Amino acid sequence: MKKFLLVANWKLNGSKKMISDYLSSLKSLASVYSKKNIIVIAPPTIYLSQVYKDINNIDIFLGAQNVDINLKGAFTGETSVLMLKDIGVKYVIVGHSERRLFHNETNNIIIKKFNLIKNLNLIPILCIGEIQNNNYSQTKKIIEEQLNCIFKVLGKEAFRNTVIAYEPIWAIGTGLSADPKHVQYIHKFIRNYIQEYDPISIKSTIIQYGGSINSVNTEEFIQQPDIDGLLIGSASLDAKEFLKIIEIANYYT
Ligand code: PGA
Repeated sequence: MKKFLLVANWKLNGSKKMISDYLSSLKSLASVYSKKNIIVIAPPTIYLSQVYKDINNIDIFLGAQNVDINLKGAFTGETSVLMLKDIGVKYVIVGHSERRLFHNETNNIIIKKFNLIKNLNLIPILCIGEIQNNNYSQTKKIIEEQLNCIFKVLGKEAFRNTVIAYEPIWAIGTGLSADPKHVQYIHKFIRNYIQEYDPISIKSTIIQYGGSINSVNTEEFIQQPDIDGLLIGSASLDAKEFLKIIEIANYYT
């Protein structure tokens, strides 16, 4: 039976108070829901430990929004994957369009991060997607390029035990989610593309969608056969809204 991967990406939001209120609303119900689905909270780095303390007894996993390309040394202000692992992080988002755009993250940097995360046995959530609302063939071309640059460096098994988040950039934070049928088509394309390289890896590769997901549109997305989960930004900041999304996914699990 399918388990959905539901990731709350809080981005640059949260406070000590918000986290304790949020997690107490989630705690009472999450232990029931998370048995069916995999739930991840990715707070800002500074709050990772606080969140970890509170989710420790319930089946929610910790995610980080970013990591450095170095493991240790003179790199002021950075956080290494060793440190993330040390404090209980399991998933790490990499290549988010906001990092590509506002922090000039190139494919080379993203490949290094993706590789480090995998080597330390954490799970990378690689974000890919087109900038403009294109036709299918253009979107496929862009996705192919983004996948190829990882395949080229890390080989055909690159996507074993990883997550790919298809996030059309025009759908992020705009309230304009992509058409679920379009997303299904692209997810199937991604699945087939990876499968051609490595039939085994596809069994352990989760393909999730992100971009203006909320409790109203969740149902349409998770009914698509090739959507294995959701990466949720602004709607995940409201515990009640996030719980509703979990509840809907739970229904389809
Ligand atoms: P959004 O963000 O749900 O606010 O569109 C999704 C994301 O950027 O991961």
